[in-house]
Amino acid sequence: MCTVVGYIGKSFCSTFIFEGLARLEYRGYDSAGFACIDSVNKKLVCSKASGQLSNLTESLKKNPIDGFTGIGHTRWSTHGDFSRNNAHPHFDCSQTISVVHNGIIENYNILKTQLQSSGHIFYSDTDTEVISHMFEFFLTSDTVLPRVVADVVRLLEGTYAFIVMSQIFAEQLLVVRKKSPLCIGIGDGEMFIASDVIAFAGKTDKVFFLPDESFAFVSKDGIHAYDFYGNELLVEIKSSTVVFERSEKNGYEHFMLKEIYEQKNAITKTVESLSRSDSFLCDQLGLSVQALCDIQKICFIACGTSCHAARIAQFFFESISQLPVDVQLASEFRYKSFFPEKNTVYIVISQSGETADALEALRLINTHGLHTIAITNVATSTIVREAGGFLLTCAGPEVAVASTKAFSTQLAVLYWFAHRIALEKKLIESNDLSQAEENLLTVATILESSLERYKYEIDHVQARHYACYDKAIFLGRHISYPLAMESALKLKEVAYVFAESYPAGELKHGPLALVDNTMPVYILSHQDSLIYQKLVSNAHEVKARGGRLIVFAYAGQKELCDLAEAFFVITHDVPPLLGPLAMIGVLQYFVYAVAKERGCPIDKPRNLAKSVTVE
Ligand code: AGP
Repeated sequence: MCTVVGYIGKSFCSTFIFEGLARLEYRGYDSAGFACIDSVNKKLVCSKASGQLSNLTESLKKNPIDGFTGIGHTRWSTHGDFSRNNAHPHFDCSQTISVVHNGIIENYNILKTQLQSSGHIFYSDTDTEVISHMFEFFLTSDTVLPRVVADVVRLLEGTYAFIVMSQIFAEQLLVVRKKSPLCIGIGDGEMFIASDVIAFAGKTDKVFFLPDESFAFVSKDGIHAYDFYGNELLVEIKSSTVVFERSEKNGYEHFMLKEIYEQKNAITKTVESLSRSDSFLCDQLGLSVQALCDIQKICFIACGTSCHAARIAQFFFESISQLPVDVQLASEFRYKSFFPEKNTVYIVISQSGETADALEALRLINTHGLHTIAITNVATSTIVREAGGFLLTCAGPEVAVASTKAFSTQLAVLYWFAHRIALEKKLIESNDLSQAEENLLTVATILESSLERYKYEIDHVQARHYACYDKAIFLGRHISYPLAMESALKLKEVAYVFAESYPAGELKHGPLALVDNTMPVYILSHQDSLIYQKLVSNAHEVKARGGRLIVFAYAGQKELCDLAEAFFVITHDVPPLLGPLAMIGVLQYFVYAVAKERGCPIDKPRNLAKSVTVE
């Protein structure tokens, strides 16, 4: 989740380092740090600040430092609080070895105790600091650098991508990687190092992706790479097509709001790109036509909002493609018993394509030789590179930590894919697929028009009213239950409201005890008449206990709306399976407005990061 960047070359390093950190700040914003080898006295100098990168930029304006070799970091705290003291880079006792790190050194406590007993003094509470002290320790007895690195990594447990900069080997930077991503951009007499290619996009298109469990010495003109046993590796240079699009708010107060409004276009672009993909679809999926026909089960693996998209898609695949579906949280999947199944396609959904839990689950499935498909928003992501095939959402960069347009485009891809498999299995005709595409475009318009319809009322009445409550219950049934899960997650992460979601039928099995006149209960309706009637009964149960009922319903659901103190209705005809997609815009806007009313930092909620690259 942290970002590491490094530069060595002909220019002053601070320009690239700060631009690179800014481009990747979505990965963590608890603190920031920068160190370089001073261009005049050749000594290591450093500046750190707690909080967002802008705090460090401000402090550097007062006390500038720069050089031709440098490293930088933005932090998402794992070990130790957000203080300046725990900000990277971290140093050894002599302050001549500096380290920036992304990942977790799991056995840092044991290593720290050993180092402390041999006289090393620690200045932070982080796991990272052991790395600089270990280099200090091994460099006193050995000067062959690859051997020293091999000695250090042999003792480090966990996942890491780190950069070491030292006065001892000032003409090069050392980069080390185990599981966490790290890549090197090769320029003309300069090298750019970063957690993601986007940091140096536009500066060079030549990239060396450091292989897993390897390290490299990077000078301004060359790279020498080694495996963890010290054997030299071939440096395979790839060409990158990544383009950095600077995201602007374009007049919107927050990125979240802008992205809510971008959904209509994002869904349209996604559907258009899917319908154009027919001639190369099988290649892209890594499946033959026959293999598509032979699919007997789908297993989704994802985290957070992406997992909610999977839970909604379960209903698409079960009803449209008539396939059994299993949905697994990536962070749990890895530690459960795994029974590989033939003719099952494992679909990993991840907006960023970098989520560590999802990536590790993918790797585990790959080791069994099973077919994997990635659904992501980032074509160059690690998950796309490592999966057997992929489908892309065309949401464009999503900047706000809260996922909005990524979620709705995931639903679009999944709805389309369920139809595409059904077509191959001869369950539907090609005009049904065209109709499905048409429906997605119509629903994208309904998503926006519904939120427009309620915007004024939410801004002027509902947001103010419901912003006073610190808790909430979201209820749904069938396909509206995962929508309830997603809505509760949004309210938690953006508005800091303790929100829980339940299948409405479970209310009486415990959560009903929480309901009184201080509890807002949000009921997300369903268009199926049987399920709707059950939801009406659940609404009565809430109302009888004085609960504050807020309903999100569909046209003709007056009985449910009449029970509520506030209601929002999707007035257009929507295919029942696309109900959640039509409704998500109003829900997201409601959460956004409540969060704004509560004074929350909407785009960068506390404690979170956009890309979760630690397990
Ligand atoms: C969504 O609002 C969250 N920020 C979060 O749950 C997110 O969906 C999750 O971390 C998964 O991310 P991914 O889609 O990039 O894998």
